[in-house]
Amino acid sequence: MLLKLGLRSVLANILTMVLLAGVAGVPAYAGSNENPTISPAPKNSSSDDVWWKHAVIYEVYPRSLQDSNGDGIGDLKGILERLDSLQALGINAIWLTPMYPSPQVDFGYDISNYEAIDPMYGTMADFDRFVAEAKKRNIRVILDMVMNHTSDQHPWFVESRSSRDNPKRNWYVWRDGKGPGQPPNNWQSEFGHSAWTYDARTQQWYYHKFYAQQPDLNWNNPDVQQAMFDVVRFWLNRGVAGFRLDAITTLFEDPQLRDEKILPGKNAYGDPNQDDSRTDNLPQVQDVLRALRKVVDAYPGQRVLIGETYLPNVRELARMYGKNNDELQLPMDMQVGLINRLDVNEFRKRIDEAETQLHGNQPLFVFDNHDNPRSWDRYGDGIHNAAIAHIVAAILLTTRSTALLYYGQEIGMVTTPPKTRAAVQDPIGKIGWPKEKGRDGERTPMQWTSGMNAGFSTAAKTWLPVAPNYKTVNVQVESGQPASLYLWYKHLMALRRENPALRDGANIIVNPSDANVLAYLRKNPGSGPSVLVAMNCTAQPHTVAFDLKNFGIKNKRASTLLQNGGVAKDISLQHVKLPPFAVWMGAVQ
Ligand code: GLC
Repeated sequence: MLLKLGLRSVLANILTMVLLAGVAGVPAYAGSNENPTISPAPKNSSSDDVWWKHAVIYEVYPRSLQDSNGDGIGDLKGILERLDSLQALGINAIWLTPMYPSPQVDFGYDISNYEAIDPMYGTMADFDRFVAEAKKRNIRVILDMVMNHTSDQHPWFVESRSSRDNPKRNWYVWRDGKGPGQPPNNWQSEFGHSAWTYDARTQQWYYHKFYAQQPDLNWNNPDVQQAMFDVVRFWLNRGVAGFRLDAITTLFEDPQLRDEKILPGKNAYGDPNQDDSRTDNLPQVQDVLRALRKVVDAYPGQRVLIGETYLPNVRELARMYGKNNDELQLPMDMQVGLINRLDVNEFRKRIDEAETQLHGNQPLFVFDNHDNPRSWDRYGDGIHNAAIAHIVAAILLTTRSTALLYYGQEIGMVTTPPKTRAAVQDPIGKIGWPKEKGRDGERTPMQWTSGMNAGFSTAAKTWLPVAPNYKTVNVQVESGQPASLYLWYKHLMALRRENPALRDGANIIVNPSDANVLAYLRKNPGSGPSVLVAMNCTAQPHTVAFDLKNFGIKNKRASTLLQNGGVAKDISLQHVKLPPFAVWMGAVQ
């Protein structure tokens, strides 16, 4: 299904590029700044100048960004080679997914040593150099911290499983079965089947929310917390800017081990659907977050805690900041980015919720990451994918949110799932085939050039195949195409960095009952111009009128800052003409 969509969207991409580039007489993306040069982030531009509030955080999956040694797998030196390009794009931080030593069952999310670098990615010296070189370019480095579980090859678990009276026994979650061959309860792994694995040597079961090779740590044991916080200090001392906390909501389980509720239907692995209220989002998580925040806050330089927080609603999300704003600074808002259809009302509602219901805290919007099919395919309709990707970019970069950008999103990389079960790398794709093909599709190598392996590697075979569209979809080609998605991202980032209203302004929804055009005002906190953003989310043209006097905007004309639909430079707010899927933003006062 996804593959088909992907192929269709390549075609759509080409068509839409032609359409956008061909708007009569108007240079692509015309506005005040047609050829953005990248200036350093302004210093002290507002009273509350915390770097991560304005940041674009770029997620790098180290296996897939750049291979420097020709083994077909990306590495740290490779990322270093691409730092100039990332700086030119305009990012502020890199979130590196795990690069610690690991058996790679879950491609690094199964860590066997928290204080070293996997030789496949390089050495500690390479890491230090990477952080230092990034810093020179004003790019901070954020690490992925996996605190819920370790690898089963981690010495802690090797010890823990060795005997029931080993001092590390209680570092993991060991229980007796219900009866012979029966696990302690019905809990299921996120990755299919029982979350309990029997260990014959000590005749007990251990709990794993994810793969059996990822035993859960026992967070009721204070020694576990102490050890993990020491790991955190180890990396803070090496100069990292913070952490993305993996699976942070699943640290604790119901101490009474009560069964999860069974829900109707079956999942992709053929197991009955389950509620997860006994194993996810337990309140004890927040005590850990408060303690962790104290550790991080003891360091200078505005270090940041980001959470992988898939939560059902904005109320739950708001909780993750802490009652006294003393937990996560940036829990990921998955409400906006995972709507998965261009639904104006839904976007409006959720953007507004992030603005009004997070108690003034900073949202972090995420459309793409290494666990979900790419937004190109989730939002694309198979015909207008490129234009829709421009809208996604605009929502990500012109709302008040901190922005998370996944490598390749900026060029419109497509999801390329494996064609056969034998080709699958991500184990869930093997367990769940064909309903669940795993996450390989969104982890294919970065497409830099039209050359061999898209410039990613010189190896005869790369760890995942390069997506077939790399000859036309890559950084090099798109850098020279005035209407490319890549340049659109660059323009948006430059504007976001330089425009005071986009940097700091409140995010006010306007025209709330328009079902076709999503629009909001970024109100300048000072006396300068505000920015009105309008996006036609349909395949038909729409002309919209804006009356902004209630928001203190008296002038009835706007001056275009950036657009991709041939909108004139100076326009009347009574008649903003938006071609299909056009994005327009203008200065208003
Ligand atoms: C998170 C990661 C995912 C990983 C899982 C288990 O969800 O993003 O890639 O498989 O945790 O660590």
